[in-house]
Amino acid sequence: MISLDKHPSGRHFLQIPGPTPVPDRILRAMSLPTIDHRGPEFAALGKKVLVGMQRIFQTRHPVVIYPASGTGAWEAALANVMSPGDQVLMFETGHFAFLWHKIALRLGLAPEFLSVPGTDEATGLPWAWRRGVQADRIEARLRDDRQHAIRAVCVVHNETSTGVTSDIAAVRRAIDAAGHPALLLVDTISGLAAADYRHDEWGVDVAMAGSQKGLMLPPGIGFNALSPKAIEASKSARLPKAYWAWDEILEMNKGGYWPSTPNTNLLYGLSESIDMLLGQGLDAVFARHQRWASGVRVGVRAWGLPIQCADAAVYSPALTGVVTPTGVDADALRKLIHDRFDLSLGTGLGKVKGRMFRIGHLGDSNDLTLLAALAGVEMGLKLAGVPVQSSGVQAAMEFFASHALHERLDAAA
Ligand SMILES: Cc1ncc(COP(=O)(O)O)c(C=O)c1O
Repeated sequence: MISLDKHPSGRHFLQIPGPTPVPDRILRAMSLPTIDHRGPEFAALGKKVLVGMQRIFQTRHPVVIYPASGTGAWEAALANVMSPGDQVLMFETGHFAFLWHKIALRLGLAPEFLSVPGTDEATGLPWAWRRGVQADRIEARLRDDRQHAIRAVCVVHNETSTGVTSDIAAVRRAIDAAGHPALLLVDTISGLAAADYRHDEWGVDVAMAGSQKGLMLPPGIGFNALSPKAIEASKSARLPKAYWAWDEILEMNKGGYWPSTPNTNLLYGLSESIDMLLGQGLDAVFARHQRWASGVRVGVRAWGLPIQCADAAVYSPALTGVVTPTGVDADALRKLIHDRFDLSLGTGLGKVKGRMFRIGHLGDSNDLTLLAALAGVEMGLKLAGVPVQSSGVQAAMEFFASHALHERLDAAA
C-alpha cells in the first residue's frame, strides 16, 4: 500500500520564524545566470543593493553585506569595534541573547549578562524569557560604571526564541540619560523588514540582520549597519579581523564591488526583495506583520493557551510563542503536526525547550496561509488530546474577515 506520508502533495508549510517561505518572484530572480563579480554589470547590482539596504535599515550611513548567516553578522560587529578583554553589557531576553553572549566570550571579551531572575508564576518559564529589555536596569548599571569601562551595550531587537521585541529607543535614552559613551549594538536579525527598525533615529551604532527573515530570502546574507561612531571605533579596535574587517569592504563598495566573492545570486534576490518591500512601503510592511501577529494571537487566545510574551507592549510582529500546558511535550506535538500535516513550527530553544512552540508569521505569507497553519496546529492539539477552550481557526477567521488588509492595528491588540 502506498503511504501518503511519504508522498506529500501540495506545498510544505514553513511556519518557522526564519528561514521563511521565499516569494516566487525572488526565486525567479535568483535563477538568472551568475555574472562576473568583477565585471561592469555587477557594479550596478552592488550599488543598488547597498543603497536599498540603507533605506531598509532607515540609515544614511553604510551597510556592510557579507556572505554569512546571522551568527557571522554578530561576530563581524564585535570583531570590528572591540578589543581583547573589553567589557560589554548584554541583556538576557532569551536564547539568541544567550548565544550572542557566548560569541562575545569566545572572542575574548568580558561580557556581563544582565538578567531578571526568577520564574513566571503563570507558566513556570523564566521571567526574563517572557519580557523585553528593562532599559532602566541598563541605565542603572551604566550609571555605576563611572570609569566608562563598558564599551558596548548589546540588545536583541526581536528575540526569535520567545516572540518578544525590545524597545531600542528606550535603550538609547537609557544610555544617554546615564551620560555613558558605550556603543549601542542591536541584533535585528529577525526584526528587520518585519518590525519597525530605525537605525539613525534610534542612534544605533551597529545593527545586525540576516537574509532569511523579514527580507524573505534564503539564508546566506548577513548585514552590519554602521554609524559614524562605530566606523571611528573600528579604526582603533584591536580584536583580530580579516574577512569581517569593514575598512576594505567599505572601500571596494564605493565602486559597487567587494574584496572577496559576493553571493551574486542571493544579491539578485536581495535586489528583488528591496523592490518588493520599498514598493509596498515600509509602513505597509510593518502594518502587514502586526496584523498577521494580531490574528494569530486571537487564535492562540481562543485555544486558551498562554502567549509566551507576557507584555502586550512588546509582542513580536514576526512570530508568536505558544506555551503548551504542563505535561504536554511541545516537541512531540510539533512532530505530530509535521508528520500529519506537513507543517513546520519553530521548536522551543534553550531554557524553554519542550515547553513551547513558535508560529512564524513572516516571509511569503497571507491570511489564508496563516489560517492553514492555525488549522494544522488545532488539528494537532486535538490529536494529541490537548484540551482547547474554543476554535482558534474560527476566531482568527473572524479577525481577518473583519480587519482590512494593511489596516493599522494597535500593536498590543
Ligand atoms: C535574533 C537572532 N539572532 C541571531 C540568529 C543567528 O543567526 P543564524 O542562525 O543565521 O546564524 C538568529 C537565528 O535565527 C536570530 O533569530
